[in-house]
Amino acid sequence: MATLVITIDGPAASGKSTLAKLLAQKLGAYFLDTGAMYRAVTLAAMKKAIPLADSAAISKMMDNTDFEFSVENGHAKAMVDGVDISEKIRDPQITENVHFVASAPLLRSRLVEMQRKFAAAHQRIVTEGRDQGTVAFPNADVKFFLTADSAERARRRQTELDAKGAAQQIETTAQAMAKRDSSDQNRTVGALVPAIDAIMIDSTGLSIEQVLETMLGHIGPR
Ligand code: DC
Repeated sequence: MATLVITIDGPAASGKSTLAKLLAQKLGAYFLDTGAMYRAVTLAAMKKAIPLADSAAISKMMDNTDFEFSVENGHAKAMVDGVDISEKIRDPQITENVHFVASAPLLRSRLVEMQRKFAAAHQRIVTEGRDQGTVAFPNADVKFFLTADSAERARRRQTELDAKGAAQQIETTAQAMAKRDSSDQNRTVGALVPAIDAIMIDSTGLSIEQVLETMLGHIGPR
């Protein structure tokens, strides 16, 4: 069982993944990108032409599919049936459809179970997502809720998309993000809300280094 669990929850493009990776490096911990799990299940269902609204069929598919989540050279790696899908799960088509899996209580409980298994297999973990401090690890040692204003988050996401050569306008990026925020905040299970004991950090206008220092200050020597 992990002896140190740090959770980072927050909306899309608030900096969770970057900070989780850096914190994990500093603390000698593994990091878990739980969004990648929701994305991998979405991709696997789409590849197998399973209707995304059919959570029972997707759950069955999960029984017969090998999902592997690991960290390689400091980057999250996702494999489905031995195929590396780490890049593919970032496609806008997956981003657009991930809400089906994220809003299905049955699938959420299965993924939370996988997240706890990951924690059980590692001494120290930094995990990021939407419900890590509220549902998956309510007894985590330190919980963060990271936010940033929506215009800044849209700019950050656009920079990532531009770097990949995706021909998408920032207006489209901002609209897609607003839609996903709303779906994340309003689902009945695992909704995006801060845990009552979460430390709130607004990263608007702050550098990654500044946020990292703030987090390390809260974590203290461990
Ligand atoms: O962090 P991300 O953009 O890769 O997450 C993709 C989607 O997965 C996000 O829109 C909501 C869902 N998600 C979730 O519901 N719970 C988590 N713990 C992580 C992600």
